[in-house]
Amino acid sequence: MPLDISALRAETPGCDYVTHLNNAGASLQPIQVADAVKSYLEEELLRGGYETADARRQDIEDFYPAVAGLIGADADEIGFLDSATRAWQLIFYSLELAAGDQVLTTTTEYHSNFLAYLHLAQRSGIDIVVAPDAPTGEVDVAALADLITPHTRLISLNHVPTNVGLVNPAAQVGAVAAHAGVPFLLDACQSVGQLPINVREIGCDFLTATGRKFMRGPRGTGFLYVARERIESIHPVVLDGHSAAWTSRHEYELRPNGRRFEVWEQNLAAKAGLAVAARYATRVGPAETWDRIRELATALRGMLNGVSGVTTRDRGTNQCGIVTFTVQGLPSSEVSRTLRARRINTSSATTASARVDMEDRGLDSVVRASVHYFNTTNELEKLVAAVAEIATG
Ligand SMILES: Cc1ncc(COP(=O)(O)O)c(C=O)c1O
Repeated sequence: MPLDISALRAETPGCDYVTHLNNAGASLQPIQVADAVKSYLEEELLRGGYETADARRQDIEDFYPAVAGLIGADADEIGFLDSATRAWQLIFYSLELAAGDQVLTTTTEYHSNFLAYLHLAQRSGIDIVVAPDAPTGEVDVAALADLITPHTRLISLNHVPTNVGLVNPAAQVGAVAAHAGVPFLLDACQSVGQLPINVREIGCDFLTATGRKFMRGPRGTGFLYVARERIESIHPVVLDGHSAAWTSRHEYELRPNGRRFEVWEQNLAAKAGLAVAARYATRVGPAETWDRIRELATALRGMLNGVSGVTTRDRGTNQCGIVTFTVQGLPSSEVSRTLRARRINTSSATTASARVDMEDRGLDSVVRASVHYFNTTNELEKLVAAVAEIATG
């Protein structure tokens, strides 16, 4: 079924106020998501926090099957966290990497993840190995496979980087990881909600994502997926009375599911909101939305390439809704700021956000215009006209 863009925009109040091309930063929420959060908070205001949690148990619990359904997982493989980074850290630090253990990653790795590698390199002596890109820009899967040694304890990469509009071949990496028997952690922060995801087809052991980006959920939300066969063998690096039960004075039992990584205290309004966002994304249709996103992004790259002084910076055989570009002589943050003053939302990515890739390409920043399915050609034209004016001063 083709997407009914007018109806989808009518459910997105923000579309009346801004040209929102910052969906890789935080997307505009559909009204249903905002309503779920607001009604939960209003109930808390009148009824009390614990009492509302009991009364709204169903809405909160729906988070697990709703998110699982969106990524082809089962509900018990999901855990709720307050950000993608927190979810990712919990997996990474729980793997108990030690001196000489190797983590295999890619050039576009996100700063927070790379900082964790550096942290354990300095603290515990792990080795960080960066697989090269293929000439087209995504990770070179054959080269990555060749870098695996008996010391490789983790393959960890992003599905879609923060700073360039490519999609890494996650399923091919999954096949390599499975063949080598090495755990595979996929940072799907920029891909869930943007493209169809099936964790079984990808073959990742762990996946982490955020709520606010292409899922169109509330801020302060994120989740993790742990493949069932990994759950029992991964002992969370931190525990509380929710992730484990204190069964006798000297013993405890971990939860037998993804909730062993959670903490008891959670933003339940946001969790209920993310459940609605996940159901909404599934209902709109990941395959249809992905087609539309790619169509819009391809059109935008074409238009920007026609503007003098503007250079698009995306790579990859399989490109996505993140469209990056630079404007000659202008810092990207300034371009983005000027656009925002005209109510056109974009963001910029700096060297530090993905240092290996940005340095390799000699870039200190890029403007990031990220489209979602509810954007229109008209909005893209508006952006391009504004960029053309900015570029000519
Ligand atoms: C590739 C990638 N991974 C992880 C994150 C972190 O997500 P969060 O801010 O929810 O922790 C981002 C955020 O921009 C990202 O682009």
